[in-house]
Amino acid sequence: TQALRLGIAGLGTVGVGVVKIVRRHAELLQARTGRPIEIVAVSARDAAKDRGVNLSGFAWETDPVALAKRDDIDVFVELMGGENGPAKASVEAALATGKDVVTANKALLAIHGQALAEQAEAAGRVIRFEAAVAGGIPVIKSLTEGLAGNDIKRVMGVMNGTCNYILTRMQSQGLGYNALFEECAQLGYLEADPNLDVGGIDAAHKLALLASIAFGTKPNFDGIEIEGIQHISLDDIHQADDMGYRIKLLGVAQRTPRGLEQRMQPCLVPSDSPLGQLEGGTNMVVIEGDAVEQIVLRGPGAGEGPTASAVMGDVCDLARGLRISTFGQPATSLVDSKPAITGLP
Ligand code: NAP
Ligand code: HSE
Repeated sequence: TQALRLGIAGLGTVGVGVVKIVRRHAELLQARTGRPIEIVAVSARDAAKDRGVNLSGFAWETDPVALAKRDDIDVFVELMGGENGPAKASVEAALATGKDVVTANKALLAIHGQALAEQAEAAGRVIRFEAAVAGGIPVIKSLTEGLAGNDIKRVMGVMNGTCNYILTRMQSQGLGYNALFEECAQLGYLEADPNLDVGGIDAAHKLALLASIAFGTKPNFDGIEIEGIQHISLDDIHQADDMGYRIKLLGVAQRTPRGLEQRMQPCLVPSDSPLGQLEGGTNMVVIEGDAVEQIVLRGPGAGEGPTASAVMGDVCDLARGLRISTFGQPATSLVDSKPAITGLP
C-alpha cells in the first residue's frame, strides 16, 4: 500500500509531538488507517537545535514554502503558527501544488480561513484543523460527524488553557498574575505572542472557528466581543468566591433572533458547576443541539501530546481517504456570499 507522505513545517511543542507519535505508533497507525504514515521532510528555523527527537531520515527544508511545494509529500502539516507570514504563504503554496493541509493554527484560520477554504475547494483539496480548537478534545469531529444530525443551538466553553490555569491558580493558591504567567510559559501553554492568550484573542480565534462549523457560517472573528483576563485582580477572584462564583474566560456563540451572537469574556459561573470546577489548563466545550440536547467535552487544551494527538486524528482521516472539509457542512456553504445566519426565528 502507498504510504501517506507528510511534510511538517514547525518543530516546536506541537511539531515534536507529532514526530514522536509517528515514530512511536508507526505500526498502530498503519493498522488503523490501512497504510503507512511517513514523514518525508521537515522545516524549522534553526537546523542545529537539539529538539530531543530523532529527525534522521527526514529531508530538511529551511524554507517552509519550499517544503510545501515538494512533490514527494501528500499532506502539508503546518505547525509554525502566526496569522500571516510563512504559515499563510506555505499553506497557500501547499494547496496550489495539490497537497491537503493539516494545521493547528487558529490565528491563521480565524482570519484567513474563508479565503483558504475557497482556495482548497477550488483545488479539490481539504484543510483540517482539529488541533486548532481546544487542543486534545476532538470537538470539530464531534460537531461534523457525531452531531451531524443536529441543528446546533449553542456552543460555549473555556477554550484557553493559559487563562484557565492563571484564574484557577489565583483562586486556589492566591498567587499573583506574573508568577503564574511565568509558569504557563514553562508548561508550553503560551502562544508566541502571549497577549493573544491573556487578551482573550486566542480563545476568540477558536470560538470563531467553532461557530463557523456549528452554524455553517463564515468565520467571523471581527464580530466577536472580546475581553481578556489582564484586569482580573485577586480581589475580584475573592469577591466572586465569597458569593459562590468562579471567574472563567467563557466563550459563547449562539443563535438569537438578531442573528449569530459571539462573545469571549470573563464571566461568573457557579463554583460548584462543571465549568466552575474546571481546573488548570483544561478546556471544556459545551454543545447544545436540538436532538442531543447538551453534551460536555472536557480535556487538555494545550501541550505537546494532546495537541499532536489532534493533529494525528486529522492525518489519520486523510490516510483513510476521509477527505471531508471541516469548514462548513457541506463545504460549499462557506462560499455562499450571503451570511448564513440572519433573521432567525
Ligand atoms: P512553537 O513551539 O513556537 O514552535 C514553532 C515552530 O515553528 C518552531 O519549530 C519554529 O522553528 C518554527 N518556525 C517558526 N517560524 C518559522 C519559519 N519562518 N520557518 C520555518 N520554521 C519556522 O509553537 P507551538 O506551540 O508548537 O505551536 C504551533 C502551532 O500550534 C501554532 O499555530 C499554535 O497556535 C498551535 N497550537 C499550539 C498548542 C500548544 O499547546 N503549544 C496547542 C494548540 C495549537 P525553531 O524551532 O527553529 O525556532
Ligand atoms: N495558548 C493556548 C492555550 C494553546 O493556552 O490554550 C492551545 O491553543
